[in-house]
Amino acid sequence: MYNLTIIPGDGIGLEVMEATIHILDTLDLEFNYTTAYAGNECFQRTGSTIPDETIELAEKADATLFGAVTTVPGQKSAIITLRKALDLYANLRPVKSYPGVKSLFRDLDLVIVRENTEGLYSGIEEYTKDGATALRVVTRRASERICRFAFDYAEKTGRNKVTAVHKANVLKKTDGIFKDAFYKVAADYSEIEAEDKYVDAMAMFLVTKPHQFDVLVTTNLFGDILSDEGAGLVGGLGLAPSANIGDQNALFEPVHGSGPALAGKGIANPSAMILSAVMMLEYLGEMDEAHRLERALMGVLREGEVVTPDLGGSASTVRMAGEVKNKLVKN
Ligand code: NAI
Ligand code: MG
Repeated sequence: MYNLTIIPGDGIGLEVMEATIHILDTLDLEFNYTTAYAGNECFQRTGSTIPDETIELAEKADATLFGAVTTVPGQKSAIITLRKALDLYANLRPVKSYPGVKSLFRDLDLVIVRENTEGLYSGIEEYTKDGATALRVVTRRASERICRFAFDYAEKTGRNKVTAVHKANVLKKTDGIFKDAFYKVAADYSEIEAEDKYVDAMAMFLVTKPHQFDVLVTTNLFGDILSDEGAGLVGGLGLAPSANIGDQNALFEPVHGSGPALAGKGIANPSAMILSAVMMLEYLGEMDEAHRLERALMGVLREGEVVTPDLGGSASTVRMAGEVKNKLVKN
C-alpha cells in the first residue's frame, strides 16, 4: 500500500489528474490518496498558493502527483517552493517518441537529468547602476550529487552512456567545477560511457543526431531549455512527463501548465500526466505495473482512434483515459 499525495492544482491540472487516478485504481496495487491544494484557486480561497499543510503532506507521502497550477505574476510559485522545501534536486525529463504520435524523430529514447536547486535559477539578482546581474551558483556538492544521480539512474535503467552538457570554455569556473565533478563521479561507473558536450553544440545535435544520446546531465537553465527542445522533438507538451526527485521525497508532474484555453472543455491530453504516473511507479520500484501502464497508453496512441484533439482525434480526456483503462484490464 502506497500513500500518495495528490495536488491537482488549477485548470486542466484537475482534469488530467482525475483521469489518471481512475487509471491507477485499475492497477494491481493499493493506493491511499490524500488531496492537497496549491495554485491560484487555492490562493483565492486561503491566501496562499502553497499552504504549509500541502508541503507537509508531500513530505509525508511515498510519492506526490502534481497536476498543474496557474501562476499569477507576483505570487509565490507553488512548484518551485515544493522543489526547494523537499530538496528535490534532480529533475528528470524523458524525451521519448511514441508510435502513432506525430514527431520529428522515431525511436527516440533519451533522458535529461537537470540540476534543480542552483545554477542561474538561484534567484540571486541585483540591480546595478546601469542594469542588473544574476548570480550563477555552482557548488561541488550539488554538481557531484546530480552527476551521481545521473549515473545511478543510467545503471538502474540499463542505459549505456551519460553526457555532461556545459559551457566550461566560457564559464570556466562554474562549469569547470561541474565538468570536474562529472568526471570524478564517472570514474566510479566504469561500465557506463562518459562524455561531455558544449551546450550550444548539444542544442544542434538534438535536432540533427539525437539518437546518439542516452542520459544527459546538466545545470539548471541549460536543462530547462534543452528539455523543452526535447519535448518539441517528440510530440509536444501533451506528452511530456517529468519527475522531481530528492533523497527523501519525489514529485511527478506533466511539463505543461494549467492550459487556460482548454480548461473546462474536457479535451486536455491526459498522456503527460499518465506518463508522470508511470515515472512514479518506476520510482516506487513497481516496474511491472509501470511497463504495463506505459504499454496500455502506447496501444491507445498507436491505434490513434480514441485520442484527444491535439493528437488529431476527437475524444475527451475522460474517454481517452477510459480507453487506456480498458487496455489495462485486458492485459
Ligand atoms: P500551458 O502548458 O498551460 O499551455 C501551452 C500550450 O500547450 C497551450 O496551447 C495548451 O493548450 C497546450 N497544452 C498544454 N497542455 C496540454 C494538454 N495536456 N493537452 C493538450 N494541449 C495542451 O502553458 P501556458 O499557456 O504558458 O501557461 C498557462 C498557465 O500555466 C500559466 O499560469 C503558467 O504560469 C502555468 N504553468 C504552470 C506550470 C506548472 O504547473 N508546472 C508549468 C507551465 C506553466
Ligand atoms: Mg520550462
